[in-house]
Amino acid sequence: KRSTLELEARVNEIKSKLGKRLFIPGHHYQKDEVIQFSDATGDSLQLAQISAANQEAEYVVFCGVHFMAETADILTGENQTVVLPDMRAGCSMADMANMEQTERAWGKLVERYGDTIIPLTYVNSTAEIKAFVGKNGGATVTSSNAEKMLKWAFRQKKRILFLPDQHLGRNTAFDLGIPLSDMVVWNPRTDEFEGDAHDDVKMILWKGHCSVHENFRLEHVEDLRANEPDRKILVHPECTHDVVRASDLDGSTKYIIETIEQAPAGSKWAIGTEMNLVNRLIDSHPDKDIVSLNPEMCPCLTMNRIDLPHFVWALEQIEKGQPVNEIRVDAAIAKDAKLAIERMFENV
Ligand code: 13P
Ligand code: SF4
Repeated sequence: KRSTLELEARVNEIKSKLGKRLFIPGHHYQKDEVIQFSDATGDSLQLAQISAANQEAEYVVFCGVHFMAETADILTGENQTVVLPDMRAGCSMADMANMEQTERAWGKLVERYGDTIIPLTYVNSTAEIKAFVGKNGGATVTSSNAEKMLKWAFRQKKRILFLPDQHLGRNTAFDLGIPLSDMVVWNPRTDEFEGDAHDDVKMILWKGHCSVHENFRLEHVEDLRANEPDRKILVHPECTHDVVRASDLDGSTKYIIETIEQAPAGSKWAIGTEMNLVNRLIDSHPDKDIVSLNPEMCPCLTMNRIDLPHFVWALEQIEKGQPVNEIRVDAAIAKDAKLAIERMFENV
């Protein structure tokens, strides 16, 4: 077994050997041991844009989760190879919507509401779901552009099917002034609505969620309000609606980082998002008092699959000319998924 120092030395060696032939994007939720080597860091929107812009690297070693690597493959050229250092780095939210469920849901929704619905999918979804959405006139959304994309969708149709994250859908629509009574949940496991699917429904929310962000609960907000009323609460919109409403501020990963960067020295914060990012913010802002909204800290276990040993293994296989864990989205799916992603790029 090699030491951390040896592994780190190998990364540096391979990086300098491959130069621009290798590109390493890293999501903000990645571990320090990996993200220290990334050529670009970002939230999911930024990483999609960065992948689209880089058409020269032969190998893109994606430090993030599977759906992000799929998006990178869709947006890069045919002679570029996207590698995910550990195939187990999935996303439980993306797994909450599969094609069969989505096709069944769409059929029933069209039966109920006719041609008045447009689908929007959070980028945290499989390439197949993005393709379905693209084919049906819809677009992808990220947490940093959800509001703009909902407005875009409402200019096309009267109602939106939003998948797979009910919380991002609900929180964003609520901010646009849509009352909760005009939103209804679609349960893909029972193929039924949960709630009143009346004629004026504007948001149909897929019953999916992020298992990390659901760990921030109203009781954590209430505890802080009672014990430390001067601590500001800042959460990601993947948190439940009650938590978001009770917090002071909410926004995407990028928004959370910028808010903390701009906060005055001495200010106190409780943050509701993934643990690696919260810890990095704590370390990089020693002049501010930052804690996790849930004192137990909430890691994304699949993001954490990408560790230094897997990362080095993936790089060494590329060095040998035998890349592993290549992410290749089927061409027909990629074509339709690209439509959905490009509609997002055009509108943000
Ligand atoms: P963003 O990077 O868009 O903030 O999304 C957060 C997330 O859960 C990524 O998996
Ligand atoms: Fe998926 Fe949530 Fe992890 Fe993001 S934080 S990859 S949405 S499980």
